[in-house]
Order: sequence, then C-alpha cells, then structure tokens
Amino acid sequence: MTRPRSTNKLILFLAASAAALLAAYLFWSFAADVKALLEHRMGASPSPSADTIVRIVKLFFVGIIGYLFVRALNSLFFGLAFKLKRIDAPTLIRNIFTIVAFTILFLIAFTLLFPGQNLGALFTTSAIFGVILGLALQDTLGNFFAGISLQADRPFQVGDVITVGAQRHTGVVEEISWRAIKIRTFQNHVVLIANSNAAKEPIEVCPRDNLNARLVFFNTLYTDSPAKTIHVTREAVRETDNVSDKITPIVRIKNLGDNGVDYEVKYWLIDYAKYNDTDALIRQRIWYAFRRAGLNFAFPTRTLYVERPSRMAHLDGDGGAVVERLSAVDIFAPLSADETSMLAQAAVRHVFAPGETVIRAGDPGSSMFVVHKGRVRVQVSENGRPRTVATLNEGDFFGEMALFTGEPRTANVLALEETEVLEIGHAAMKRVFDTNPDLVESLSFIMAERRQGLASQTDDSAANTHSSAGILSAIKRFFGI
Ligand code: CMP
Repeated sequence: MTRPRSTNKLILFLAASAAALLAAYLFWSFAADVKALLEHRMGASPSPSADTIVRIVKLFFVGIIGYLFVRALNSLFFGLAFKLKRIDAPTLIRNIFTIVAFTILFLIAFTLLFPGQNLGALFTTSAIFGVILGLALQDTLGNFFAGISLQADRPFQVGDVITVGAQRHTGVVEEISWRAIKIRTFQNHVVLIANSNAAKEPIEVCPRDNLNARLVFFNTLYTDSPAKTIHVTREAVRETDNVSDKITPIVRIKNLGDNGVDYEVKYWLIDYAKYNDTDALIRQRIWYAFRRAGLNFAFPTRTLYVERPSRMAHLDGDGGAVVERLSAVDIFAPLSADETSMLAQAAVRHVFAPGETVIRAGDPGSSMFVVHKGRVRVQVSENGRPRTVATLNEGDFFGEMALFTGEPRTANVLALEETEVLEIGHAAMKRVFDTNPDLVESLSFIMAERRQGLASQTDDSAANTHSSAGILSAIKRFFGI
C-alpha cells in the first residue's frame, strides 16, 4: 500500500525538524567546549574570534529551525484559511509570507546573537555584496516583483484561459508563482512564462466566470437565401452543447466572397476552455441543418450540370430504396404499388445528427415520419425529467398523432444516431385515405395503443380518454372522410 504524498511530506518534515532540533541542542550543550577547542587551536589569532564562529554556527541552526517553523506556520495558517473560508491562497502569497516571516525571525536572532552589530550598516557598507546581489538576482527579483504586481492587479486567475506573447501561447492558467505563470495548453503541454516577460507582453484573458464569445465561419452558394441560411444556422447553433442560452447566437454575412456568401457565427460559451470541441460541434450541426434545409456550402469548383429534373429529384436518385422502405411499413401494406410510389414521391428526406430533436412535444405538426436509416427515441417529460416511451427502428413510423388529429405533438422524438427520416405531409396522406378508408382504422388502433403507452405512467388523463373509436372519428373529421 502506498502512502499519500501529503503523509510522506509530513513524515519528512517531522524527521527534518527532529534532526535539526537535536543538532541544535547538542551544539548548544557543547558550545563552551567547542569554543575552548577553537581558542586552543587558533591561538592568539585576532579575527575571527572563536566566539564569533560559535555565534555564526548558532545563527545557522536558528536559521534552519526558524525556516522549518515558518513552513509549519505557513501550512497551518493557509490550510486553516482554506478549511474555514474555502480560500486557496496563491503560491506567490504563500511564498511572500514565508520570506517575510523568515526575515523577521532571522533579524531577531541576529540581534540577539550579535547585539553589538548594526545589520543595516553591514549591508550598506558592503559594496561587493550589493553588486553581487544586484547581478545575481536581477532576473529573479524582476520576476518576483512582476509576480507581485500580477497578484495585486489580478488581471486573471487560476482556471482562466489566457493567450500570452508574440508566440501566442494559449491555455488554462494552472498556477501563478513567484517566478512564472504556468499554463496548460489545449495539447496538454505545460508552458511556463516568466512573470517579467508576461508583464511586458500583451495578454488576452478569457475569464472563467465570463460569457466569452467565439466566431465560426462558413459560406453558402449565392443561390441560397440569406434569411433562410441565418435562421437555420442560428437554430442549429442554439441547440449545440456548451452554447450559452443567455445570449442568442448572431449569424451575419461577413463578405460576398469569390466562391459564395461568407458568413460568421458569433456565439457565447458556457465553458470557454472547451472552445475547440464546441467550434467543431457547431460546424457539424450546421452541416446537418444545411443538409435538411437544402442549403449548400460553396467551394471553388466549376462543375457544369446538365440535368433533367426527375420526379423524385428530392430523394437524391434513391427513389427505389424509398419505395421499398415505405412498402415494408405495416400500415402501408394494403396500398397498391402505384399508391406506395405516389407516397414515395411526396416524401421528403431529412438527416439528423445523433442527439438532435426531430419532433418537439407541444409543437404543431402536419406531417408524419418513417425511419429510413438509424434509430429514434420517443420521450415525454415526467416531473421535469425525461422518460423514454419507445425506441423506433428502421421501418417504424412516428408523428402520426398530430398529423391525423390536428393536436400538438405528444412527445419529443430524438435521433439516437445519424438518422434519416422520410417526411410525409397532410396532402399525400389524404390522397391515400381517400382510396383506402381501411387504413384509417388500422392507424387508429396503433394510435390508441401508443396513447396508452404515453398515459400509463403519467397523469395525462386526456390521453387516457382517447379510445381507438374516438381516434377513428377524430381522424375522419379532420380529413373530411
Ligand atoms: P406526435 O404526437 O405527432 O409526435 C410525437 C410522436 O411520438 C407521436 O406522434 C407518436 O408517433 C410517437 N409516440 C408517442 N407515444 C408513443 C408510444 N407509446 N410508442 C411509440 N411511439 C409513440
């Protein structure tokens, strides 16, 4: 079993303290003997005297014990502050506390051990000491004071995303120490930027508790309507994960470009640190939304199409598969080949991304859908939490309730994977009903069964009251059959 790191550190600290105290105690006990021995060895040599050497060693021991004491005080003080007030002091503040406390202790010890010495004079008269200190600590002190000004200014905090310097290092701030700012880049690398460098460079800060915006670019063909493009894109972006619902995304034309109309999307993120994933997801959602809405991205190609519009052009030349799919749907089994083919011509194909909403409960609806490829989940909201009512596979249909009764959609239907659905509208179904009145009956049974499924665990008493006979007459009334 391995001990936690904090326990190891504590054991090491206690061992070092005990050793330092023991050494100091022994030295103090034998200080007189050491001094006599030194006097004996050095004879009459005037400087430094044996007494001064003993005092310096004593000062050294006091220094070590003082340092350990300050470290203990530091952990106790900041640990307590964190426990009581949940304040996690920055590393720099902890370091400054250690330095100040240690200097005070050291000065007290020095004055006690060398009562006759003027410490200030010792420093100021030593020109060499000043030069060495100045040269050696130039960078360190620069970083230290830049660190202090960063802490005082607080232009950013741990957890914020920042971009620093000409090399544009971007990442999440992990630590601000007395020497450097530590950031973790989105490639999971650690970059250390010396405080003094950071102080000279422009820093772009995206605070964690701020709604930071991003721009994503795309383009469309000149033939695509801007109003439709803007509407479709805005709705797709709004539904994307990590996009804040506090500010509506802005979609606008950026340029009338060489290849098409250039747009930009401005959106606000909940968690800015995930902007790469969110940008990518937005592009994906735009692609799917464009596919469904019949919008097209522009790219620099010159392709000449000479095309005769076919009767099933909107089915991407895959009309046969659609006819096959519809004839395999059980409620359409009684239809003749011509009727199925008529239904296939009227069907419009849509593609949905995994997780996207196909139908939203409460919306009005005048069409039904057949799952062509993929799977969908039917969900209702129960006490504010989603409850799955059914999972529908290829060949299943949904959305018939609103279509056949004119009532709002009874449930949410979500794509479980990339799903292709065939949408059949009111007019096409009416034509089918006119020639196949029996179909209404078989549909009313299925709808009554589904309503039972919806009502079984909810308090939706209205749903319970709909028997298959009631539904049948509602459909007939609605379609004027
Ligand atoms: P509609 O009310 O138009 O929109 C939501 C659709 O979910 C609904 O039509 C049905 O097609 C489908 N649905 C509702 N309840 C069930 C159920 N219990 N089993 C399968 N599908 C259902």
